Amino acid sequence: MTEEITFILNNELISVKINPAVVLLDFIRKQIHLTGTKEGCKEGDCGACTVLIGELKNNKLEYHSVNSCLLPLGNVNNTHIVTCRCTGYTSIKRSVNNVLNKFNSDEHKEVERISFLIKNNILPDYFTGIAERLGKLQAENSNEQNGKAKYFVAGGTDLYVQKPDEFLKQQITFIKDKNLSYIKVQDKICRVGAGTSFEMIKNSSVFQKLFPQLKSFMDLMASLPVRNSATIGGNIINASPIGDMTIFFLALNASIVLNNGLKYRKILLQDLFKGYKKLDKTDDEYLEQIEFKLPSENSHFNFEKVSKRKHLDIASVNSAIYLEVVNETIKEVHLSAGGVAPIPLYLEKSSNFLLSKKIEIETLNDVLSIIQSEISPISDIRGSEEYKRLLLNQLFKAHFIELFPELINVKALT
Ligand code: FES
Repeated sequence: MTEEITFILNNELISVKINPAVVLLDFIRKQIHLTGTKEGCKEGDCGACTVLIGELKNNKLEYHSVNSCLLPLGNVNNTHIVTCRCTGYTSIKRSVNNVLNKFNSDEHKEVERISFLIKNNILPDYFTGIAERLGKLQAENSNEQNGKAKYFVAGGTDLYVQKPDEFLKQQITFIKDKNLSYIKVQDKICRVGAGTSFEMIKNSSVFQKLFPQLKSFMDLMASLPVRNSATIGGNIINASPIGDMTIFFLALNASIVLNNGLKYRKILLQDLFKGYKKLDKTDDEYLEQIEFKLPSENSHFNFEKVSKRKHLDIASVNSAIYLEVVNETIKEVHLSAGGVAPIPLYLEKSSNFLLSKKIEIETLNDVLSIIQSEISPISDIRGSEEYKRLLLNQLFKAHFIELFPELINVKALT
C-alpha cells in the first residue's frame, strides 16, 4: 500500500514511496528529522504541529495553516509544506501582528504579499519560485488513484483522531484528488463540492451574502487549522449526531449527490441518516456534492450552538432554522437539531406544525411539546438527557428571539 508522494518541503523536493495514510507530522519528524514541528495532543487541539500548506488554485498560490498531526501524506501531494516554527506563542503572535499591521496600512494594502515578505527578509528568496515549481509538479503528477478502496478520506480531521492506526492497514481513496472543492450558483441552486473546507465556506462571498451571520456561526466551529482541512463532505458522512455543518445544511433542506464511479444518486440530506452512523450509502459510493435552493428574499436563517467551552469544542446541542415569512406568517420552515438523537435530526413534525402559523408566543409554546416528542437524547459526558431537552427548547426560542425581536417579547417567551 505504498504510493509515490511528491511535494516541496520548505525548499526541498520530496519524492518518496510511502504509505499515503502516514500523517505528515510523523514523516517530517521521524524521516526528515525536522523536529521543530512538535507533537503535542495529536488530536488537532494544541497547534504544536502546525505547518503551512501552499497550493496552486486557479494558478494562484494560497497558503493555509493546518495541523500536520491530522494530515495524511495522501493529501500533501503537489503542495508546498512550510515548517516555519521556532518556539513560544508570544513571539510568534507578535511577529504575525507586526506583519498584519503592515498589510493593513494604506501604504501596503495592495502589495503582492509574497514578494513584499521576501523583499523585507521575512520570507526566504526561494518562495519566489514556488508557484512555478508547483505548476510543474501538478502537470507531471496526476493525483487520480486507481483501484477500489474501502475507505474514503477527505480532510481527515475527525477520522485521524478516531482511528489513525487502522488507516495504515487500509487502501484509501483521498477525496482531495477528486477536485471537489468548489461553490457554484446556477439557476437559483447553490452547489457545494464535498471537498470544500469549512474555511472556504466561511470566506465565501456567496455564503456571506446568503447568511450575513455566517462568520459568527463558524467561529464556533473548530480552530482555524482544523477549518482549513475539515470538509463539508467529511462532516456529513462522518454522521456525528452533532456535526455542526450537517445541522446547518439540514435546515436548508439540502440534497446530496452520491457517486459510485459509474452513476450518480441524489437524495435529501435528511434521508441519508438511518441510525447511529448508519447511512443510506453503499461502500463504493462517495459524497460528491451538496445542493440547496437559494434562500428567498423573505427568508431568515439562524444557527445556535451550546458547548462546554465556547470555542474549539463539540456541541452539547446545536440547532438551525430556515424560515420564509410573509406578513408575519410562516410560508416555509425547516428546523434541525444535533445532540438530541442518534443521528443529526431534521425535525419534520415540528417543521410541519409551524407551517402557515403566525409568529407569536402561542405558536412557539405550542411547538415545544412536538419538538420534545421528536427527540431522544441520552445522558453522556456532554450533559444529561433532561439538560439536553431543556437546551433544545431554549435554542428553539433563541432562534425566534434572534430573528424576530420586533414580534417576540423575550420576557413573555422565557
Ligand atoms: Fe496538537 Fe497536532 S499535535 S494539534
